[in-house]
This record gives sequence, structure tokens and C-alpha cells, in this order.
Amino acid sequence: MLYESLADNLARSIERGSLRGGDRLPSVRGLANQRGVSVATVLMAYQQLENDGLVEIRARSGHYVKRKSLVALAEPRPPTVNRTATKVSVCLGVSAVMKAMRDRSVVPLGAAEIDPELLPLRALNRTLSLIAREMQWLGADYGDLNGVPTLRRQLAKRAVKWGLSLHENDFIVTVGAMEAINLCLRAVAQPNDSIAVESPTYFGVLQAIEQLGMRAVEVPSSPRTGLNLLALEQVLRQKKVKAVLASPNSGNPLGAVMSDEHKERLVQLCRQFDVPLIEDDVYGELAFEGRPRPALAWDTDGRVLLVGSVSKTLAPGYRIGWVVPGRYQEKVESLKYALTVSTPAILQMAVAEFLSGGGYDRHLRRLQRRLKSQVERMRSLICEHFPPETRVTCPAGGFVLWVELPPGVSGIAVQQEALRHKIAVAPGSLFGAAGQFDSHLRISCGFPTTERILDAVERLGTIVQTVKRTHQAGPHHVTA
Ligand SMILES: Cc1ncc(COP(=O)(O)O)c(C=O)c1O
Repeated sequence: MLYESLADNLARSIERGSLRGGDRLPSVRGLANQRGVSVATVLMAYQQLENDGLVEIRARSGHYVKRKSLVALAEPRPPTVNRTATKVSVCLGVSAVMKAMRDRSVVPLGAAEIDPELLPLRALNRTLSLIAREMQWLGADYGDLNGVPTLRRQLAKRAVKWGLSLHENDFIVTVGAMEAINLCLRAVAQPNDSIAVESPTYFGVLQAIEQLGMRAVEVPSSPRTGLNLLALEQVLRQKKVKAVLASPNSGNPLGAVMSDEHKERLVQLCRQFDVPLIEDDVYGELAFEGRPRPALAWDTDGRVLLVGSVSKTLAPGYRIGWVVPGRYQEKVESLKYALTVSTPAILQMAVAEFLSGGGYDRHLRRLQRRLKSQVERMRSLICEHFPPETRVTCPAGGFVLWVELPPGVSGIAVQQEALRHKIAVAPGSLFGAAGQFDSHLRISCGFPTTERILDAVERLGTIVQTVKRTHQAGPHHVTA
């Protein structure tokens, strides 16, 4: 029927974004003249679009594209249990995401990076140049191999706010949390050993496991409650893993904060089965409802190795991280000396100076507020523009969203098509050892929702729709 093909045609324009929510459709008579059809045909087509929920009539004004109501999308489902040790292979895919991150012409929804305007970089860099000017002999020696004492003192002081009682000598300063994670893995396991990790998990963890020739045993994690402790217990009972590596405080990509009871149980399980827990607390300071305690707070025998950094709160480029290695102190120390000897002192001093200045807590509060509102805004945009079968997390901290795409829609297909439109996203396949999250995406909300980001999310929604239609129609070239 003529009116149906006209309605289809208009529906596609709406789906593709040529006509957007709130736009006025052409007048009935105008469209009839333009398309060479009768007024009745246009009226029936508009009626069809109204029935489909795409168009609304405003009294004495005309037909308008309906603004999509914010349907609250469901949360992603935790993966099913798979207790086998998997050889990991994510490094190549990670390189592509990191490359897109460096291209400033690409809309940055891929890597978990924060708008520089939200970080105190000017103050830090001023401090850096002051230190360089005042300390003529800086750089003349390797300094304190475990890290500049003033920084370790500041970290021990901050640990009180995390609910921990630590001494400056408990810390070893590292080149970002990534070095700390690598040191911890080497300290507690050998090549071919298996490490229990959350599923999905941060791809850097999988990269480290891959590069060290270890294997991953993936334990399902829920967007609300974090690591599934029953599944972990089953894995530990098989006695096949050398360590557990988890991020109980707003981990990446799910953003769940485990309850105190669950953290206590997690540490108990590690004690019961005599395995170390590498605790990645990089997002601990960015929980929305106040600073949660790390699982280390329940450790009684030094089996938790706590990892952190200032990459998500102050300056990712400074590469300042740390590890509190507990009973593995000596081992981690000797690995650190063997690998990088020490961490550049001037950067540690600038961070120490900033932490001692008293402005850090104010900065953190502001940053948390901003990130939370960016996450909420991005969430509603996804609800508005992605197909209704999409699922998206409602994180308790951090600044990334984990999106489960409609059935059959490949995250890699969406990522590639999005890149052609200069939009970066991280495909879900990077967050699982065996690429099992191919129908997922991770979307970073580190930048304010400017017009450029609004357009990008709308465009992404269209790309997902198109990839979905292409999948339904069978494989052929995608254009969006
Ligand atoms: C969960 C998690 N752990 C560790 C890191 C690495 O942190 P860093 O940049 O301090 O090495 C990241 C970085 O994105 C992360 O998301």
C-alpha cells in the first residue's frame, strides 16, 4: 500500500536521525504535493506512525516526531559459569582501543579516561616545575627504591579514610596500577598457573595474564553485587587457581560495589582455600555513595595485596600507583627492583605535595559528583537512543557503563562502524578471556555531555539499530 511505504520511509528517517525527537513533520498538504500522493495517503501514513508510537499530534500545530520516553532499560545479565582455565588473547584488540584514544578527532567513549578539565593538572604541573627548579640535584640517584617517603606517608594517612591502618613502609610505589598488578601476579603465580578473575573484567588484567603466560578462570560477576561468591567457592574447591584477582569497589566495567559482608566472605574464602587475593582498588575513591572499605580491611594474615593509583583521580600520565603487598612484601620488592628499580621521584613528589595540600578531598567530591551526573546522563541517552532490548548497568561508582546489545548484535561490528563515524567505544569481547562478551560494549562517561557527545550517542543508537537489522536480514555490508 502507498501509505505504508510512505510511513516506512518516514520511519527510517526517524530511525536514522534525519528526523529527530521534537522535529515537526511536513504539513499534510505539503508532503502530499511533494511526494505526488493524495492528502488521504499522507494522513493514513501519519496515522500509522502515530500507532507505531513514533509520531504525536499537537493540537493546532501539526505532527511531531515523538521524543522517546525514557524507558528504563534492564541491567545486563551476569554470564554463565565456566570453570575451565582459559588461555587469554586480548592484547591485539586492546591496542586498537588505545590507538583510537590518542586520536583527538574521535569522540572519546572508548578508553576509560577523564576530561582533563576535571583533573587538577594545572596545580600538579605547577608543583612539578617548582620542585624541578628548587631541587638542583634531583635525578642524581635512584632515590628510595620503595617510593619517595613523603608520598608513602601521605598514602598511609589517606588509608585511614579507606578504613585501613597502614604504615608508610607497607606501600611500594609503582608505575601505575598496571605495574602493581603485574608485580602481584608474578609474586604469587608462575607461567601456566591459573588466576580466578571476575567476568567481565578489566582488559588490562587479562592482558597481564596473557603476557605472563598464565590462564584465567572466569567467575561470573553481577552488576549489582559484584563477584559471585558461590561460583568462586566452587572454583576454589577444585584447587586449581593460584590467586584471586578482583575489584570489589566499583570495578571496571560493571561498577558494582560489593557489600562489606561479601568482602568479608571473599577474604574468608581466600583464607579457607589458602590463596592470595589481589585487590584492584583503582576506582575505590570514585564510588558514588562514599568511600567503601577495601577487602583488605578484613584481612588477618597478610594475604590481600592491595593495588591503587592516582590515574582515575589526579593524572593518568604521571603513572603513579602503589601496592600494599602484605606477606608478599619481599617478593614484590625484589621483582620491582628487577623490573624497573624505582618510580620517577619528581612525579611522586608532586603527587605527595598535592595530597598534603588539603584540597584533595574537595577535588574528589567534585569529581565524584561530576562523574556520577555524566554517567546518569549517558545512561538516559542510551535509554533514549538504543533499541529497547538493550541492557545497561546502573553503576555504584566509576565512570563506565556496560551495555548488553540486542541479541545477535556484535560489539565489534558496532565498534568498527562507530570508528568510521569517528566515535570510539570499547567492544565487550576485550573484557572476557575467550571473547564471550561479543554482544556487549563498554561506554566511557569521562567527558561532559556536550553536543558532540549527544550526537555521538544518537549516532551510536542508529548504528546499533542498523547492525541489528543487518543481522536479522543476514550478513551484508553495514551502512549507518
Ligand atoms: C580496573 C582498573 N585497574 C587498573 C587500571 C590501570 O591503572 P593505571 O593507569 O594506574 O595503570 C585501570 C585503568 O583503566 C582499571 O580500569
